[in-house]
Amino acid sequence: MVHVIATDETDAWEREALTALGSGACVAIPTETVYGLAADATNGIAVARIFEMKGRPRFNPLICHVCDIAMAQGIGEMDATATRLAGRFWPGPLTIVVPLRPASGISELVTAGLSTIGLRCPGGPSRRLIAAFGRPLAAPSANRSGRISPTTAAHVAQEFAGTDLIVLDAGPCEVGIESTIVKVEDDRLVLLRPGAITAQELQAATGLPVESATGAAIQAPGMMASHYAPEAAVMLNAVRCPPGAGLLAFGGGEGRSRDEASIMRNLSAVGDLREAAAHLYRMLKEIDAAHPALIAVEPIPEAGLGLAINDRLSRAAAPRKPE
Ligand code: TXA
Ligand code: MG
Repeated sequence: MVHVIATDETDAWEREALTALGSGACVAIPTETVYGLAADATNGIAVARIFEMKGRPRFNPLICHVCDIAMAQGIGEMDATATRLAGRFWPGPLTIVVPLRPASGISELVTAGLSTIGLRCPGGPSRRLIAAFGRPLAAPSANRSGRISPTTAAHVAQEFAGTDLIVLDAGPCEVGIESTIVKVEDDRLVLLRPGAITAQELQAATGLPVESATGAAIQAPGMMASHYAPEAAVMLNAVRCPPGAGLLAFGGGEGRSRDEASIMRNLSAVGDLREAAAHLYRMLKEIDAAHPALIAVEPIPEAGLGLAINDRLSRAAAPRKPE
């Protein structure tokens, strides 16, 4: 059942939300832009649930929500420019894309395996919730895939009617469109998505030129066929593992030949798609690091989260385009 709780003066909403987030569940949170479908960004299974609930057919990178600059600094490389932007516009409708720190603890499903991360500090009750939780929350807009972003708790409740979900209700969102996304580079800013905070404001705050990369760049991560391709060739739907190949397995292995693999990782021995999604990027990297000429991937059911997993794997298997 969807459970809508007002973020009023009592603490009940916060306690319920913290319990749910701590158990790896999603919670719909109000922000100044749109409602988000949030989960613990450090828990891969919890993040996989976001994709599952949204029915997203592919893993695109998610924005990571923090409570302040200090939390952001633990996750991303916040250089002087990024810190300046955060100081000027946080809490607020600005997402800042910076290099990911190596020991960030963030699930690779949040960044879709990229080496950068989008960070944003929302205001209001969500900021308080993140501070109390003590960990960042990954959150895309709280709509099912391909539908309009919700700006009221009632919209979210309609979207997810019949599912188990806590929706924190702080009234209608003030801004009503998604945050501005800006990527910080050495000597310029790149506007990846326009929003309430304009290119002029970003330029005025930093003194840096702002280039617009709307459209192409927003789609770039995870959309390019060769994005994050392993060095090895990739063979999908492998029922038998060719001798010497690296094997990305799925499930208990009945009817599979796994003995000849030079290295094997199992996305989920029990055949759980959530677990498989949470493990996908790390295991691909680990197998690739052993330098097999070929990575064989066992069949993964083409349903639910399996659609997004297979989408990602088919990109890994796509013929490489020169850069
Ligand atoms: O206002 C908002 O930003 C809302 C609220 C909930 O915070 N969130 C939101 O998330 O709009 P979502 O998942 O619908 O959009 C995230 C966008 C995607 O287009 C994604 O490509 C981009 O952010 N993004 C995230 N991390 C990125 C990165 N490291 N590099 C480039 N783009 C990134
Ligand atoms: Mg969205």
